[in-house]
Amino acid sequence: MFNPAFSSAAMFARKNIMPVTNPDKPGNSIHHPAAKAARIFCDSATRSDIEPLLRAGLINGITTNPTLLKKAGAKSWANAKEIMKDLCALLQPYPVSLELTELTEDKMVEQAQELAVLGTNSVIKVPAGGYPAVVPGGDPFTGFKVVRKLWESGVRTNVTLVFNTTQAFWAANAGATYISPFLGRVPDYINKNDNPAKAAGNSLYSIGDKGFVAGDSVANSEYVAAGGEIKDAGARLIFEIATVFANYQITTEILAASIRNPVQLTECMLAGADILTVPAPVLQTVANHPLSDEGMRGFLEDSKAFSG
Ligand code: G3P
Repeated sequence: MFNPAFSSAAMFARKNIMPVTNPDKPGNSIHHPAAKAARIFCDSATRSDIEPLLRAGLINGITTNPTLLKKAGAKSWANAKEIMKDLCALLQPYPVSLELTELTEDKMVEQAQELAVLGTNSVIKVPAGGYPAVVPGGDPFTGFKVVRKLWESGVRTNVTLVFNTTQAFWAANAGATYISPFLGRVPDYINKNDNPAKAAGNSLYSIGDKGFVAGDSVANSEYVAAGGEIKDAGARLIFEIATVFANYQITTEILAASIRNPVQLTECMLAGADILTVPAPVLQTVANHPLSDEGMRGFLEDSKAFSG
């Protein structure tokens, strides 16, 4: 399992300037013991996933994306907007991330304004980079330019598809409120593409002066891939971002995304994530444990001795 270095004094200092997750209740003499806890969001656009978690007080926000909207049944842009608007109303006042689908700066800013009015709690999800896979020759700073413009006009953003610390840093520098490193996809990718004879992470993309070069360089993989097991590479990415943000007292929130299992939730918190966005099926698995269950069976049996 991921084995982080001890949290630094800088990490504690940063925590003190971050928002409160569990505020005290007026009139209650017990201060909330987890005032600065990691916040839990649900990674879904499906109302039936979200509503019970919200009513139970288990989540403080949601994140959506085009894949999740498709899963929720969106059949047109108008229909997707109806779903997003309904989710904003449901979640009020908690944040709801709504993702851009346009690919060029002006159109993205325009679409962001269209989504921003769906709810005062909307957050615009802006993909990092310039999307060369779908916009050949596109400006690599497209996403960050959009974030800067939205910050200037008072619109909160969540920079998504973050896979390294430089992307996270540039997003913060542009004015992002949140950044979403995709924890689960890093080990997925390495497991699928690494040459087993080489060091872990040899398949990762580099960012060099030749631009993106797949498969031939580990220049960008050392920090997230080396120094531990492949399965923990995503948690190491979170830890690296958390350390950099702490060093510079950056208050952009680290929203760990692409979570596959409850162990990764623990790893994200060890690594210093501010928010964990979790698919509903993974959230269903966090509370039970076979030993809790077995223990409960024993306590219930023994309680029969005095329940008559
Ligand atoms: O929030 C981002 C998330 O939805 C991506 O998850 O499972 O497609 O890697 P996944």
